[in-house]
Amino acid sequence: MATNISDRLRAGVTTRTAEETRALAAEWAAALPADATVALHGDLGSGKTTWVQGLALGFGINEPVTSPAFTIYTLHSGPERMLAHMDAYRLRSAQEAEDLLIEEFLVSPWCLAVEWPDRVPGWISRDALHVGLEIEADGRHSIRLRGR
Ligand SMILES: Nc1ncnc2c1ncn2[C@@H]1O[C@H](COP(=O)(O)OP(=O)(O)O)[C@@H](O)[C@H]1O
Ligand SMILES: [Mg+2]
Repeated sequence: MATNISDRLRAGVTTRTAEETRALAAEWAAALPADATVALHGDLGSGKTTWVQGLALGFGINEPVTSPAFTIYTLHSGPERMLAHMDAYRLRSAQEAEDLLIEEFLVSPWCLAVEWPDRVPGWISRDALHVGLEIEADGRHSIRLRGR
């Protein structure tokens, strides 16, 4: 039986390569609602940034998505929607998180993808989609869409 990408991710998927992870994220990108917050949970190296790279691919965004050393978030505009990529790892305080003013830059339709979402609870809307990433003992990466 053919199942859609969200159902597959909800059941949990494992990938062997970053390329495979990006391809899944790119497929999922098309299933996202117009204005979507995506909270990416997982340890360092679990594939959060790789997932965002896949989202960008899916949105037709060609510029590279990286883990910036000094910025908390990067805005990418694309032909279908804009992608705001936040990496909250280096945020030091709740105040710093509040001061980001991202909403001023979000133009619908947008996707706000957040690494380390627990550090910026104020930016994670109630309708956010939560994705958990893990490295398995055998080196594969697992991806699971939580909730709905
Ligand atoms: N199956 C896989 N899925 C995602 N990343 C993988 C996979 N296999 C190897 N990798 C590698 O693991 C690393 C994941 O890094 P990254 O996406 O930056 O993680 P995070 O943002 O969670 O710290 C990358 O170097 C990527 O190439
Ligand atoms: Mg990262």
